[in-house]
Amino acid sequence: MTAALPTASTIAVIGAGAMGAGIAQVAAVAGHRVQLLDNRPGAAADAIRSIQAQISKLADKGKLSPERAAQARSNLVAVQQLSDLAGTSLVIEAIVENLQAKQNLYAELEGIVGENCIFGTNTSSISVTAIGAALKRPQRLAGLHFFNPAPVMALVEIVSGLATDPAVAATLFATATAWGKTAVHAKSTPGFIVNRVARPYYGEALRLLTEGAADCATIDAVMREAGGFRMGPFELMDMIGHDVNYAVTCSVWNAFYNDPRFLPSLVQKELLDAGFLGKKSGRGFYDYREGASKPAAQTEGPRAIPTGITLCGDSAAAQALAQRLTQATIPFDTAPTADGRIAQVNGAVLFVTDGRSATQRAADSGLANVVLVDLALDYATATRLAMTCAAQCSDGAADAAIGLLQAAGLQVSRLADIPGLAVMRTVAMLANEAADAVYQGVCSATAADAAMRLGVNYPKGPLAWADAVGLPTIRTVLTHLGASYGEDRYRLSPLLQRHVFAGKTIHG
Ligand code: NAI
Repeated sequence: MTAALPTASTIAVIGAGAMGAGIAQVAAVAGHRVQLLDNRPGAAADAIRSIQAQISKLADKGKLSPERAAQARSNLVAVQQLSDLAGTSLVIEAIVENLQAKQNLYAELEGIVGENCIFGTNTSSISVTAIGAALKRPQRLAGLHFFNPAPVMALVEIVSGLATDPAVAATLFATATAWGKTAVHAKSTPGFIVNRVARPYYGEALRLLTEGAADCATIDAVMREAGGFRMGPFELMDMIGHDVNYAVTCSVWNAFYNDPRFLPSLVQKELLDAGFLGKKSGRGFYDYREGASKPAAQTEGPRAIPTGITLCGDSAAAQALAQRLTQATIPFDTAPTADGRIAQVNGAVLFVTDGRSATQRAADSGLANVVLVDLALDYATATRLAMTCAAQCSDGAADAAIGLLQAAGLQVSRLADIPGLAVMRTVAMLANEAADAVYQGVCSATAADAAMRLGVNYPKGPLAWADAVGLPTIRTVLTHLGASYGEDRYRLSPLLQRHVFAGKTIHG
């Protein structure tokens, strides 16, 4: 096992902005002497004062002992010039996101620091290989990608460029771990792990909106209350800022030679053009100006509790409905299922979406009253579920299906009949992207899942989620989405295919 850098070694952080300050705090609390440098006069000293105040707050809350806090505060020193960094073991760069600026900085540093000094770049989108190309010893450089805010977010991506020495990556991995972080190894490819695998969370939501599936508030509520995500995609994009989020999407899309999986959205571009950058500018998908109120999610009004409910088969959805109806003392029968239906009531036949629209499924099956429900992270505890009805479905059958779901204690959001509903198509696409990252050797399956749980707080790693849903189901959903849209966007990762054919889960 490679050892972490000893706490006796000095760490330099260059760039005292949001990220640099956070990283300096992490290293100082971990026990290192930290030199902070910024080319804006006074910026490093200002940042140190605010980091010290943060550290004191942590001590007041009992999260750090008074002694450790005092030590951490005194560990921080502002320095004025690069030549002051001669004795450092690790230089972490968190300056402006510009290749030339980063290359120039490290090229100058090479003449100052010792042979064994490691360079860690916090870049979120620039190729580590390209930054290293300007160095005499590119093997000493790796990505050390923290997430914002660095003291809070547990994940650090250790990104290896083509020339990175594996021993350097291993030392950074051990050091980030010693600093209390969860480190994951990644190859320097566009978006690394998190910024690549997360694209469908925004992309599929933007497509749903564009196609009129529902409004933002409804899609957000479904993703939170059925999908278990901490924030809905639209509120999250508003928080990140559309300038930043759109730029990351474009950079990943461009870097992958316009792969349609990452295609940017005109709806988001329109917001950008209007200057509606999200929370920070007062408007985005939502209105944050004084007096504005957030629109409510579309929720079906109460229907009569239907009689004659039959729950079919033993899928997770059918089992959870049985549990919930039993708890609500609503009577129901049970029956096996031959065609995958999970329930039937007053002529309505309910299925979990398989990526076809309800209308197509009605046409394919010859059943008129087809009702589809979305995926839920956990059908037993979800508070809301999205559903949709075939164009052929009668109003009475739709009412009965909605009544059944409401009787089970669910808030029901009825979406337009788009294929794949919201949570299912998003999870399928997240899993597909994670699978391709693994397939292409960017990271391991375990790393992909940890990265998404810890870097963007997903309730489950996408690959573990796909395992739980069933890889054959994910394959079917993606295949049907591809057929519905006729787009390469939904093509299946060979890794998923291989596991389906092998009859194996990804995590074994
Ligand atoms: P920021 O704009 O808050 O801070 C950058 C700081 O670097 C500024 O204080 C600036 O004066 C200083 N600086 C610029 N050029 C310099 C140079 N040549 N020498 C010394 N100081 C210099 O930016 P932020 O958000 O902290 O980002 C920094 C880096 O971290 C970027 O590469 C960014 O892509 C990356 N990153 C940002 C995340 C975020 O959520 N903001 C998340 C993860 C990575």
